[in-house]
Amino acid sequence: MRIIVTGGAGFIGSHVVDAYVAAGHEVAVIDNLWEHGGGRRENVNARATFVEADIRDDALGRLFADFRPDLVSHHAAQHSVAISSRDPVFDAQINVLGLLNVLENSVRAGAKKVIFASSGATFGEPEELPISEATPQRPESPYAITKMVAEHYLRFYRNEHGLDFTALRYGNVYGPRQDPNGEAGVVSIFIGRFLAHEGVKIFWDGEQTRDYIYVGDVVRANVCALERGSAGAYCIGTGSKTSVNAIYRALVDVTGFEAPIERLPRRPGDVRDAQFDPSLANLELDWQPQVDLLEGMRRTYEFFRDKEPSRAGSLSGRRGA
Ligand SMILES: NC(=O)c1ccc[n+]([C@@H]2O[C@H](COP(=O)([O-])OP(=O)(O)OC[C@H]3O[C@@H](n4cnc5c(N)ncnc54)[C@H](O)[C@@H]3O)[C@@H](O)[C@H]2O)c1
Repeated sequence: MRIIVTGGAGFIGSHVVDAYVAAGHEVAVIDNLWEHGGGRRENVNARATFVEADIRDDALGRLFADFRPDLVSHHAAQHSVAISSRDPVFDAQINVLGLLNVLENSVRAGAKKVIFASSGATFGEPEELPISEATPQRPESPYAITKMVAEHYLRFYRNEHGLDFTALRYGNVYGPRQDPNGEAGVVSIFIGRFLAHEGVKIFWDGEQTRDYIYVGDVVRANVCALERGSAGAYCIGTGSKTSVNAIYRALVDVTGFEAPIERLPRRPGDVRDAQFDPSLANLELDWQPQVDLLEGMRRTYEFFRDKEPSRAGSLSGRRGA
């Protein structure tokens, strides 16, 4: 298959590119390496074509026309809730108008399907857990609003133009290459502190939870969606609640280092719990998460340690302490 991955230099998108290339697909990456995002040139698979371009740009028409994708994986986004709250117009320019430019050009270039990186944030703080596809979406930030709006546009383009879609509503994704500004930023922030052999800040009582999902599991959902999940929107989570304290303890287990904890009050807007029921994705995408928290944290920690071996030296001597 010929596949365009927007945001394919970023954290999740670059892993999706790796999997598509490994499966024998021909992949083109479109990414503008936005300074506040996780996009890095070195993340891009050497066997993929890389084009540095903005999804809002008119030049996208020519790129799509030349590559003639069968499928488009749309991962490019302004991915920060905080930036979206400060500047909702900028957020919508990328996450709504950029999406529309991608969808228009997908139709014109004859693509059959779009796989969209949606978000569990579209549900806001629900009345009941776990969150499932039956849970009403009540987005609470401009970022989450744009992700929900995007799902409506996907339905419109399918009905109007026959462009099929699968929307994957990710929980908090963590793993190698992750960007500290993303939705699972606490993992990479903590890992940075552990590597620097410094203490961590834990807000509230640390028992607030999220559904942290390893990037390799998210990638497999993107592979399943190549063939399945027509016109579907799926919760992509583990089904488990993981607290900030549990993230901390997993890192202590992985590193053997008891980082000092500074306990601070709850931050305004902090949500108590999140947990996603992956049953529908299991049924319709034939997908289920496979990597547990400890293994995922080990792989993530080792990635950052090997990237910055000088900082890790002080920790490696403390393993098993
Ligand atoms: N990380 C998570 O936990 C999480 C959870 C839910 C949804 N998502 C969604 O998954 C997708 C990937 O997120 P990520 O965490 O890998 O973030 P990321 O910042 O690492 O990746 C996003 C990529 O999009 C690129 N980009 C940004 N603006 C662009 C523009 N105008 N034109 C072209 N490229 C642009 C960035 O350079 C970056 O490479 C995003 O759509 C995000 O909203 C992420």
